[in-house]
Amino acid sequence: MRILVTGGAGFIGSNFLQLAVPAHPQIEFLNIDKLTYAGNPLSLAGLEQYRNYSFARVDVAVAEDVERVFKDFAPTAVVHFAAESHVDRSLHEPDTFVRTNVNGTLHLLEACRRYWRGQESVFHHVSTDEVYGSLGPAGAFTEESRYDPSSPYSASKAASDHLVRAYHRTFGVPVKITNCSNNYGPRQFPEKLVPLMILNALARKPLPVYGEGANVRDWLYVDDHCRAIWIVLREGRVGETYNVGGGSELRNIDVVRAICRGVAQATQSPVEELEALITFVPDRPGHDLRYAIDASKIRRELAWQPLESFETGLRKTIDWYLQNTAWIDSIRTGAYLQWIQRNYDDRGRAQ
Ligand code: NAD
Ligand code: TYD
Repeated sequence: MRILVTGGAGFIGSNFLQLAVPAHPQIEFLNIDKLTYAGNPLSLAGLEQYRNYSFARVDVAVAEDVERVFKDFAPTAVVHFAAESHVDRSLHEPDTFVRTNVNGTLHLLEACRRYWRGQESVFHHVSTDEVYGSLGPAGAFTEESRYDPSSPYSASKAASDHLVRAYHRTFGVPVKITNCSNNYGPRQFPEKLVPLMILNALARKPLPVYGEGANVRDWLYVDDHCRAIWIVLREGRVGETYNVGGGSELRNIDVVRAICRGVAQATQSPVEELEALITFVPDRPGHDLRYAIDASKIRRELAWQPLESFETGLRKTIDWYLQNTAWIDSIRTGAYLQWIQRNYDDRGRAQ
């Protein structure tokens, strides 16, 4: 098996490679990544020692470059992580999201269509529960839920999911799709809620909660997600979609309070000092109220279930950020500071 991993220098892709490469020496992995602000070579530390791993800097939105990768590497599977992934950024630069998430997925599917005819292969598309839009106070997304994306990010992911299904139905490309909930864990860029709050709490900076903090997300530890991808890739049915969730629904304010408690415990500081940093800031436009996943299909068919609770996963995550100061220093560049200023100054308060 020869697996082409796209976006493997990002949060989920790098955790996937850190687990899969050492565990499967008989499988060749090629990681292609554009290395945008979200891709960090330090997240790939240690992988260079494995003979079954290689890296190439490639932009999936450039069709000729994707085609060259298919000619040279001849993958038998693709695990497609590469994407622009942050909702707030998609409000500022939606065109980048369409370019990478829609065009990039299209170019990969085209290459599969051309190079895979008659072969046993699989294109695994990593997607999000945000394609289903927002839930009210009750219920959970199933694989049959209607697509109803709210943000340019989720709209671009929805479009990419549709292209993946279309290439299966029209051209017979063997595809599988996973739609998962909010991931957290090591190596996540601190624009997303959990690492942003951990690093701000450690630095005694404001903890900016959008609106009233009443929006609900389901939290999935990244290793649990990576195991789900592996199981679906190897054993899932072709043409099928599997929803993946952590079974940990929490209001944002409760996530932030849990982070305050976790950081206080890990650094032996008073929790009140950290909770005093919580600052309510103007809400995100189009902010989805609630996401929840019905993961019964993947449990039933593939016997997958999450191993971490939010409490145990959060402890591991906080420990990782405490121990990996070089990684944190590497992302605290001018571009990161500019983003923080743009996102939070626009809201008028915090930071
Ligand atoms: P991330 O933003 O941390 O990483 C994205 C990676 O893709 C980076 O390494 C970046 O350099 C690379 N990339 C971006 N544009 C590229 C391009 N044009 N060509 C090649 N590489 C490019 O994202 P993540 O959180 O690791 O998410 C991975 C996938 O999982 C995405 O498709 C995302 O939509 C999906 N997903 C993420 C979450 C989550 O909570 N993080 C939840 C559900 C689904
Ligand atoms: P985020 O990590 O950006 O993921 P997503 O928007 O894909 O769910 O945000 C998670 C939740 O946290 C979301 O409801 C928005 C909220 N949030 C804040 O309240 N403050 C913040 O600074 C950030 C980044 C997010």
